Amino acid sequence: MDRVRIEELRRQLEYHNRRYYVDNAPEIPDYEFDALMRELQELERRHPEHADPNSPTQRVGSDLTAEFETVRHRYPMLSLGNTYSLEELHEFLERIEREAGETEYVCELKFDGTAISLTYENGELLRAVTRGDGVAGDDVTANVRTIRTVPLRLQGTGWPSYFEIRGEVLMPYASFDKINAEREAAGETLFANPRNAAAGTLKQQSSAVVARRGLDCTLYQLSGDDLPFATHWASLQKAREWGFKISEHARICRTTAEVDAFIAHWDEARRELPVPTDGVVIKVNDFAERRRIGFTSKAPKWAVAYKFKAEQALTRLLSVDFQVGRTGAITPVANLDPVQLAGTTVRRATLHNAEQMALLDIRPGDMVYVEKGGEIIPKITGVELAERPADSRPFEYITTCPECGTPLVRYEGEAKHYCPNQSGCRPQIIGRIIHFIRRKAMDIEGLGEETVELLYENGLLHDLSDLYDLKAPQLAPLPRLGEKSAENIVRSIAASREVPFHRVLFGLGIRFVGETTAKYLAEHFRSLDAVMAATREELEEADEVGAKIAEAIADYFDDAENLRIIGRLREAGVRLEAEERQRASETLAGKAFVISGKFRTHSRDELKELIELHGGRNLAAVSANVDYIVAGENMGPAKLKKAEKLGVKIISEEEFMALITGETPPKEEPKQGKLF
Ligand code: IVH
Repeated sequence: MDRVRIEELRRQLEYHNRRYYVDNAPEIPDYEFDALMRELQELERRHPEHADPNSPTQRVGSDLTAEFETVRHRYPMLSLGNTYSLEELHEFLERIEREAGETEYVCELKFDGTAISLTYENGELLRAVTRGDGVAGDDVTANVRTIRTVPLRLQGTGWPSYFEIRGEVLMPYASFDKINAEREAAGETLFANPRNAAAGTLKQQSSAVVARRGLDCTLYQLSGDDLPFATHWASLQKAREWGFKISEHARICRTTAEVDAFIAHWDEARRELPVPTDGVVIKVNDFAERRRIGFTSKAPKWAVAYKFKAEQALTRLLSVDFQVGRTGAITPVANLDPVQLAGTTVRRATLHNAEQMALLDIRPGDMVYVEKGGEIIPKITGVELAERPADSRPFEYITTCPECGTPLVRYEGEAKHYCPNQSGCRPQIIGRIIHFIRRKAMDIEGLGEETVELLYENGLLHDLSDLYDLKAPQLAPLPRLGEKSAENIVRSIAASREVPFHRVLFGLGIRFVGETTAKYLAEHFRSLDAVMAATREELEEADEVGAKIAEAIADYFDDAENLRIIGRLREAGVRLEAEERQRASETLAGKAFVISGKFRTHSRDELKELIELHGGRNLAAVSANVDYIVAGENMGPAKLKKAEKLGVKIISEEEFMALITGETPPKEEPKQGKLF
């Protein structure tokens, strides 16, 4: 029975998922896990009637876009009193001891992400809601389901049939660095710190994007009507048994000295943690005692957060450089008198843009405070006015490009200035070539930044398409090269003709088109010609492409110089088409489809992929050539009218699945009722 197997696979996958992500103790190799997952995916594909939003297959998310629904918290999400001073913390502990006598505390790390409340009903994740204003928050369940450390079904026994558990959705440093590197390469604005990145990701419209962002979730508090625990500590141990990720660093402390020691330890040791923390939370352990101590209107009186000070250093601003990126974006960078900060010597710090400089009123010669923004990128957070030279004057921001002299421009909605001279400004040209040859793009080995500059200076490279005309004898005589390197370079350039299309698309360096967006575009349009022919509206149909990206793409292809470069890449034999997908069947052969609206179990791109997988064709617009429109919710009225006029058959997602599987579509299931 498929149904039984589906259930069994779901249980197994959930178990191994927990062993891998929560316990860090995998029991089976990845390929076995993948094989189980594929078997389940296939069975679920064949049996849409057994679809379950809590199935492990749903962790990959979908590109369904949905406005988040506002949900009232059953128990309000309070905040915590906080302090930066040990003295105040000691007063807090003394007050507790005065009221309650000798007390046991649980000291925990204060994780620096965004708060989340998870509701479980009969051991299954029912809902995930953000803190919002504490009274009501956004329902982000679809996004939270993709976080591998959140159990979709609980393990073990003894969980209350209905309870909430709260914690923090976090972005580990590794995920943060990776995402920002991608965004930087794409010329997108960077996330300021992992907290913003976690919060921003949770509010993403596409859960498929969330699934790829590598979020984590640590829980630290249970709420329910009749929880079967006497202490916070006991509840955490149980929650861990049920499959939740509970920090292993929490400790019971019985004296002020023990609390102090915990803080002192983590103020240092937190630098080694994979996730950001910004303090320690000290909580009374005993629930009965907590009830006696009570709450203020905003926060419990039985807990307090001690916040770590962000490390700062004071140093002199020597000068400001203006860097021109490959997209023409200008970034002011401060040169500082070298200073020690959080384990490294800081010499330079970003000033972001003109607005930021004006906001800080930063002046040449000022003594400035430097912090590591989110502990990673040094930034200037303030000026020590007491030490300002008497004759100082405000900075005048540059108005022309420091490299080519072209007057700078500002684009609407962008904080940065840009040099618009794309094809004539040296760092932009070189930057684009360097981007093109990157490992994640064309992966041309042997050609580093210096060599590219060398080739540019020697008139051998004017733009990236010149790469394919380079000959070894031209390169060999150049300084630091020689015959062997020259041959390697030419061979590596030739090999780059085989690089898959999505990497070529990324390599072109279209503003805002990072590695991931390029993948989505390639997946959706399948060829450069199709991307070039697409209208802005059509571009926005691809995952992660919004108005801003669509405009940047359209602008890119409006430029005659870019078209010339693409023409030459085409002549050189670079791949400008995605590889054909393997067919699973010919069931839909000869049939043309249009996908419209939002769907319940598949994303639009998944449906399109299924159509091609089974031999059908996807068309963008309704016409007499279309056989079926697969209609989800919110199908545009214009499309509907046109379809009716042309007599095109309109089918539901379930009916479409039935076309592929040859089974009768299931009856519409009633929607999940809402509790509030
Ligand atoms: S307990 C009623 N424990 O800090 C108090 N909060 O400043 C519930 N946070 O909104 C919170 N780590 O988002 C608690 N170990 C921890 C925490 C923690 C991070 C966050 C949480 C809360 C905020 C309060």
